[in-house]
Amino acid sequence: MSAFIQVSHLAKSRRLPGGFFSNRRRPVLRDVSFEIGRGEALALLGPSGEGKSTISRILLGLEEHDSGSILIEGVEAPRWRKEHPGEMSAVFQDYTSSSDPRWSIGRIIAEPLAVRGEKADKAVPGLLARVGLAAEIARRRPHELSGGQMQRVCIARAISTRPRFIVFDEAVSSLDASVQTDILELIAGLKGDMTFLFITHDIQAAAFLCPRLLFLEGGSIAESLTLSELRNARSRCARELIDSALPFR
Ligand SMILES: Nc1ncnc2c1ncn2[C@@H]1O[C@H](COP(=O)(O)OP(=O)(O)OP(=O)(O)O)[C@@H](O)[C@H]1O
Ligand SMILES: [Mg+2]
Repeated sequence: MSAFIQVSHLAKSRRLPGGFFSNRRRPVLRDVSFEIGRGEALALLGPSGEGKSTISRILLGLEEHDSGSILIEGVEAPRWRKEHPGEMSAVFQDYTSSSDPRWSIGRIIAEPLAVRGEKADKAVPGLLARVGLAAEIARRRPHELSGGQMQRVCIARAISTRPRFIVFDEAVSSLDASVQTDILELIAGLKGDMTFLFITHDIQAAAFLCPRLLFLEGGSIAESLTLSELRNARSRCARELIDSALPFR
């Protein structure tokens, strides 16, 4: 599998609180290197606060890093994003704040297309169908939908521009267990040619969706394991996640 994204020696520190003039910084990412193959679904796991979302925001161009490089199809990430508008998107945990509560669902889904100057309205019924929602939902507002329905809307919006890379950052974490399964099945059905980075605390969800799992610990990638290698995990964070998941015992 050729590399779609190559992350090399990524480092990022954050300023510690302590007043405006404080220059003390705390490292979050120390030395993070990994590759995502073209069309691969890769999971990124690790303890809370370890820097998983920081990695996703840096990949998406929402946050700067201090050092290291990110190549997408061999091109520096900022240039790739500029040359491929809409080809990278994301679904986050908090579906309530991901969209304007006053907008109709149709407008929420169509907005990324409209921003690109594409005819958007006609695409909405097809996008709703792709995430398992009825066309009439387009007229509703976010408060008229369940959490699971709203997360489907966020996924429809994220795939509207036909992205080639999607980050799912804890995209199923705040949903009920039965709804989580539905959404995981929906995401699995979208895979096709798209490249996925699936960020989660839930090793079972990761194993359901992704043939390879990365474990972030202490500011770098502690391990990269395929499903068949999980039983031989050596890093503490991988062992703890595996031991907490019943089917792996
Ligand atoms: N905007 C911010 N300003 C200051 N510190 C931040 C900011 N965002 C995150 N942090 C800090 O950076 C570190 C990494 O946070 P990050 O959100 O990347 O972790 P995470 O692995 O995604 O955690 P979780 O599993 O809880 O989502 C944490 O210590 C967090 O408190
Ligand atoms: Mg996070």
